[in-house]
Amino acid sequence: MKYVVKMVAMGLLLTACATQDAPKRTLSWDVDDALGYCAKQVERALDSLRQTDGSYDYTMAPRNILQGETTWNCRKAYAEEWCSGFWPGILWMDYGVTQNENVRQQAQGYTESLAVLTQQPVFDHDLGFLVLGSYGKGYEQTKNTAYRQMMLDAADSLATLFNPMVGTILSWPRHVKDYGGHNTIMDNMINLELLFWAAEQDSSKRALRDMAVKHAETTMAHHFREDGSCYHVAVYDTLTGDFIKGQTHQGYADWSMWARGQSWAIYGYTMVYRFTKEQRFLDFAQKVTDIYLKRLRETSDDMVPLWDMDDPRGETAPKDASAACVVASALLELCQYVEEEKGEEYFAAAADMLADLSTEKYQSRDSNVAFLQHSTGHHPAGSEIDASIVYADYYYLEALMRLKNMLKQQM
Ligand code: GLY
Repeated sequence: MKYVVKMVAMGLLLTACATQDAPKRTLSWDVDDALGYCAKQVERALDSLRQTDGSYDYTMAPRNILQGETTWNCRKAYAEEWCSGFWPGILWMDYGVTQNENVRQQAQGYTESLAVLTQQPVFDHDLGFLVLGSYGKGYEQTKNTAYRQMMLDAADSLATLFNPMVGTILSWPRHVKDYGGHNTIMDNMINLELLFWAAEQDSSKRALRDMAVKHAETTMAHHFREDGSCYHVAVYDTLTGDFIKGQTHQGYADWSMWARGQSWAIYGYTMVYRFTKEQRFLDFAQKVTDIYLKRLRETSDDMVPLWDMDDPRGETAPKDASAACVVASALLELCQYVEEEKGEEYFAAAADMLADLSTEKYQSRDSNVAFLQHSTGHHPAGSEIDASIVYADYYYLEALMRLKNMLKQQM
């Protein structure tokens, strides 16, 4: 194909060159600078987490840094905490970039403190987040067979939450009464990766793949409105499997677009396509992406969304950098699966998101030891509003690494 396209959008310079099938992409900002910044922040964070005797308390996982604070607030790593996998995941990814031996040692320490997760009954669906971030990222770097086994065991444990009448994994066993049935939240799509991965690793676990596909199908059928925007929570009759209602938990309203919920849908269906190669999931990943991008451009002054796109305060409402990070990472994968023109649109959007996130507006820089600020965790509960949150950093680093790899591959 012979054509030349030049496009400058929000700091991205994308050049499609003649002679090659794939357009050549370049950025007007430096992804290595952003990765170097992350490495520096990791070192600062590790310094601040080191105890006076030089050791680390691996049982306490970094979770957030609130406004005015400079270092991570930590939570007990495995006591009903869904975020403990992200910090070891950040360390493993940073180790992948820097080969820094101290970072590797701490990644191992924080990861292995989560071994208890497969020695107890599954608490809720977040087992996937916990294990994919820690052992999963660790396995990518080390091929440690004990990490592989931990992931396989965790997948079996997660599968015990699958209800075949409904066709999804139960997200919150503790909230079945509050919600009036089997509840499944959009975030749960991310956890399917553990099931798909385990089934690929071990042919005797084929049933896990079937569960993941069924969950994705059921969610596609009930968890979305006509335009492709999602509810946060879908409630089903535990016994008959009938869909009862869609509602919010962390968003502005039952009918609104909670930015991170939609980001999980984009990331989730992209990942489901990676494992299944089924066109219906690829089409759906594009549908849930396109409505997100449309609403983003209507409601935000840059490529980072309001925490909920329907917050009536409009541009004065808090942002959620974490949702932008999840979407950027997902789009860098999705852009490789779709038609070329669409792929360029998604690549440009992801690069623009990362360009915005890499400015002084969103990077924490000297103000605290996280990579990013301006994320929102649970607005209705008044929790983590306009804060640094560990999963924003995790998906930011994942997205930067994906971007760097893509740029390297085309050289
Ligand atoms: N419940 C997971 C999240 O806050 O996205």
